[in-house]
Amino acid sequence: MNDVPHNAPGQQWQASRYAHNADFVPALGSTVATLLDPKSGERILDLGCGDGSLTEVLAKSGAKVIGVDASPDMVEAAKARGLDARVVDAHHLPFDHEFDAVFSNAALHWMLNHEAVIASVHRALKPGGRFVAEFGGHGNVAAICTALLAALQARGISGKARFPWFFPTVEEYSTSLQAAGFTIDSIELIPRPTPLPTGMAGWLATFANPFLHGLEEEVREAILDDAIGLLSHSLSDSHGNWTADYVRLRLKAYR
Ligand code: BEZ
Repeated sequence: MNDVPHNAPGQQWQASRYAHNADFVPALGSTVATLLDPKSGERILDLGCGDGSLTEVLAKSGAKVIGVDASPDMVEAAKARGLDARVVDAHHLPFDHEFDAVFSNAALHWMLNHEAVIASVHRALKPGGRFVAEFGGHGNVAAICTALLAALQARGISGKARFPWFFPTVEEYSTSLQAAGFTIDSIELIPRPTPLPTGMAGWLATFANPFLHGLEEEVREAILDDAIGLLSHSLSDSHGNWTADYVRLRLKAYR
């Protein structure tokens, strides 16, 4: 076990706020769900299931799907849909050779010790089982990250120490998958500009807490205002519509 932290501190998951500001996340997960191609009777693990909206779609195939997430609030929301959902740390999955597939959408970039997660996924799969995932890849939300780092730096605060995400290149992630014993079927980076229904303020309110953790309310607000000001030139159009600079890393690999 190495000493890489598992998750950056400060992220608070509130299922209702997530549903309001980020309901596009599961909606845009349909391509990776198609890549998974779940079959009736299969046992599938949804890693980082959030409020279960995509887990529910997978379960409609007739597969037996278990959702796991580190957030108790999200797991409660998933259970309220009638799903089998559990609070579990993905770095230490309590499963041994029991799933036909492990699926994950928009979650793996929150898990900072990616080698521990990949080893855990490998252990959870049956021999020949598949790992199908999509998450933030290299260059994901780069403008947003730079604006937050600049707004923090202007106040003498190091944003690098607070950086909560892991956005690997194809080469980095492929090396880790292969080192763990996976055979890669496909892996690619896909730019996906993503309209933000509640603007940059809504996105930052949902996801940027780790950058602001422990700061006075007044300082937090000033940092967010500065970041939004910096970003308005590149990510907002003349009507005030915001688009985030998402880049997906999408993969399919076999154990
Ligand atoms: C993403 O899905 O790429 C993402 C979501 C929230 C924060 C950072 C990245």
